[in-house]
Amino acid sequence: MSERKLDGKVAIVTGGGAGLGAECARSLAAHGARVAVVDIHLAGAQSVVAEIQAAGGEAVAIQTDLTSEAEVVAMVSAVVQAYGQIDVLHNNAAALDPAQRAGDRDVCNVDIAAWDRAMNVNARGAMLCCKHTIPYMLKTGGGSIIFATSGFGLLGDVTLTAYAASKAALMALARSVAAQYGKQGIRSNAIMIGFVVNEHAQKGVPEEIKQLLLDQHLTPQLGSPRQIADVVSFLASDESSFITGAVIPVDGGFTSHSPSMVPMREFFARMGSNKL
Ligand SMILES: NC(=O)c1ccc[n+]([C@@H]2O[C@H](COP(=O)([O-])OP(=O)(O)OC[C@H]3O[C@@H](n4cnc5c(N)ncnc54)[C@H](O)[C@@H]3O)[C@@H](O)[C@H]2O)c1
Repeated sequence: MSERKLDGKVAIVTGGGAGLGAECARSLAAHGARVAVVDIHLAGAQSVVAEIQAAGGEAVAIQTDLTSEAEVVAMVSAVVQAYGQIDVLHNNAAALDPAQRAGDRDVCNVDIAAWDRAMNVNARGAMLCCKHTIPYMLKTGGGSIIFATSGFGLLGDVTLTAYAASKAALMALARSVAAQYGKQGIRSNAIMIGFVVNEHAQKGVPEEIKQLLLDQHLTPQLGSPRQIADVVSFLASDESSFITGAVIPVDGGFTSHSPSMVPMREFFARMGSNKL
C-alpha cells in the first residue's frame, strides 16, 4: 500500500487518546492526514498529538464525551474551524474500562448502568458523530466512515452482553450510512476486530485467557494495534474506493472457522492423525 495516501485529508478519530485509536491516529497522520484526536481523557489525546507533531504530522486534541450531543456538535465544529473540512471519521471509542467490564456480564446479571453506558458511548456516540459529521462531508463531495466492531457483535458469548449488542448495532449503522449516503460519495465500513494486545489488554487480561483466544485465531500471534491501523488507513483512503457497506474481519481468522476446530485439533493431536 502506498505511503502518504491521505495527503490533504482531515480525519477524526474518536477514542484516539489510547489503545487502537491512538495507533490509528498516528497511522492516519503518517499518511498525511490532519487528525483530530478526540477523547474523553484530554491528557491521552494531547500526548498522541504531541507524538504526531514530533513526527512532523498535524493534529489537534479535542476533549469530548461522546454521550453528550452538545459536546459532539462542539467537537465537529472545532474540527471544521481548525481544518476547514472533514473527510474521514473513525468511530473507534468504546467504554471498556475495568468497572464497565465488571458490570457487563450475562443477561440476568448485567448491570443496567453498564448496559446504558455501552449503548450510549459505543453505539449512540458513533451515531451522533455520523449525524453531525456527514453534513460536512456532503459539502465536499463525500468521505469515509469506519466503525470499530468486534466478533462479539456477530457471535454469541457468555459475557459482555451490552458490549456485544452495541457492536452489533454498529454493523447495522455502518450499512445504513453506506446505503443512505453512498450516492453522495460517502463510504461506510465496519471492521470486526479480533483480540489485539494493547496497553489495557496487556494489563487486564489473564495469560490463560490470552492463550485461549490465541488458540482460536488462525495466525501465529494475536493482533497488534498497527495491524488494525493499517486497515483503517486503507479504508480511509481512496485506495478502498469500491469498498462500502462491508463488515470486514480484521481478526486473524477468529470468526472464520468451525466452533469445533480447536477441540478437533487437540483430538487429532492425541490420535496422531487427522484421518476421519
Ligand atoms: N483491543 C481489542 O482486542 C479489541 C477487540 C475488538 C474490538 N476492539 C474495539 O476497538 C476499539 C478500541 O479498543 P481499545 O482496545 O483500543 O480500547 P481502549 O479502552 O484502549 O480505548 C478506548 C478509548 O475510548 C475512550 N472513550 C471511552 N469513553 C468515551 C467517551 N464517552 N467519549 C469519548 N471517548 C471515550 C477512552 O478514553 C479510550 O481512550 C473499541 O471500539 C473496541 O471495542 C478492540
